[in-house]
Amino acid sequence: MDRIRLTGGTALHGEIPISGAKNAALPLMIASLLTDEPLVLTNLPRLTDIATLARLLAQLGVEIDVLNGNDEWEPLTTRTEGRLSLGVEQAKRLAGFGPDAKYRPGGRTIRLTARTIESTHADYELVSKMRASFWVLGPLLGRCGEADVSLPGGCAIGTRPVDLHLQGLEKLGATIELDKGYVIARAKDGLRGAEVRFSMPSVGATHNVLMAAVLAKGETIIENAAREPEITNLAECLVAMGAKIDGLGSSTLRITGVDKLHGAQVAVICDRIEAGTYAMAVAMAGGDVTLTGADRSLFEAPLQALSAAGITIEDVDAGLRVARNGTPVTPVDIVTQPYPAFPTDLQAQFMALMTMADGNAQMTETIFENRFMHVQELARLGALVSLHGDRAIVSGVKALRGAPVMATDLRASVSLVIAGLAAEGETVISRVYHLDRGFERLEDKLSNCGADISRLAG
Ligand code: UD1
Repeated sequence: MDRIRLTGGTALHGEIPISGAKNAALPLMIASLLTDEPLVLTNLPRLTDIATLARLLAQLGVEIDVLNGNDEWEPLTTRTEGRLSLGVEQAKRLAGFGPDAKYRPGGRTIRLTARTIESTHADYELVSKMRASFWVLGPLLGRCGEADVSLPGGCAIGTRPVDLHLQGLEKLGATIELDKGYVIARAKDGLRGAEVRFSMPSVGATHNVLMAAVLAKGETIIENAAREPEITNLAECLVAMGAKIDGLGSSTLRITGVDKLHGAQVAVICDRIEAGTYAMAVAMAGGDVTLTGADRSLFEAPLQALSAAGITIEDVDAGLRVARNGTPVTPVDIVTQPYPAFPTDLQAQFMALMTMADGNAQMTETIFENRFMHVQELARLGALVSLHGDRAIVSGVKALRGAPVMATDLRASVSLVIAGLAAEGETVISRVYHLDRGFERLEDKLSNCGADISRLAG
């Protein structure tokens, strides 16, 4: 298993290109199940989660082609004995680890064509690797009236149930049973529009029910829908495919079902979590970096927290400039909440920054109940953090010291990188497969800005 080695103490200078958002790319890829025409996605990031989902979609019957350097479509899926699949080598290529593994900024363009749905069974092997693959349930039900989908896996950051997904789909007329770890959903006469009111704004449940509702008969109203920009990216994609949706970006989505959707071309929005992560890395290590392609409007709350911490944030033509040159970091309290408030996916990174603030800062996590697993690893680097239920009190220290640490989940692992950038001496992070799920070529992006960081294969 690969590890990341880094030696802290070097300020960051230069440019970091921000990739397309993983959390937008995944539902956009899944939307290809809703039409028999090609869906073309641009600005796709190179990540293992993208490859995992591509393998699942291939099993369901989605042909996937990638645009190569000569502007030609190259098939990634192959058919053996009548079954479509995406092989291990092709998956590696999609994840950015193949023979063309040299780091190059700029996303990929892929084409997904679900001429026919060949299987409505989403297997445990792939769904357990990544929670978002559970979202194939809604579109499969909408298009085929049936789906058997394994209960999901993903980062171990709490119990993460799927009750809201299932209640929403039941409202649209699906019958749902659980059998041997699978959700068996049926809607033999098709789904019917209905009012769905979520008790909390779940991102995944909104994606799932939205994709089911676009092909349902009649009108669906989703109340208390999540408003994350990735949901708006999906809704805009569905509209480009011929869906009728009102209320984009708001907590009430009104969908009028249509009989059929068609192909479209859509760009994946920039990754606000990646952009926020690198902004926090610069704040931690010091220096002056331009995050190219970063869109401030997608992550105002974390940028405000960084400004309050004394970090310079400036709009520039290419994106956002982030700088800290010798000034101390002011402690800032944050509370994670649904968009547009401070995102839970940046809590661990902000905590890393606060470990060297000039005083105490309080992090309150309201989204997931088990999202402080990075605390014990940060403590190995010398951080002082005390836990009180859903609150963590971080007491800034004068210096962190490098140590061997372990990545526990996707966002927690990157908080260890951020802390390591400012720690004295060497930090080695194991289990970096967590990082590769959601951060494209992290070590290249940081070393291009002067960080002493490398990947240890093995
Ligand atoms: C998505 C993001 C993840 C992010 C999270 C919150 C993707 C691929 N993942 O995850 O990075 O951290 O949003 O912004 O986009 N809940 C229920 N029942 C349900 C569904 C959710 O109780 O049926 C609860 C969860 O346990 C959690 C809260 O709702 O406490 C929010 O979860 P949700 O918004 O659904 O997160 P995900 O879609 O899993």
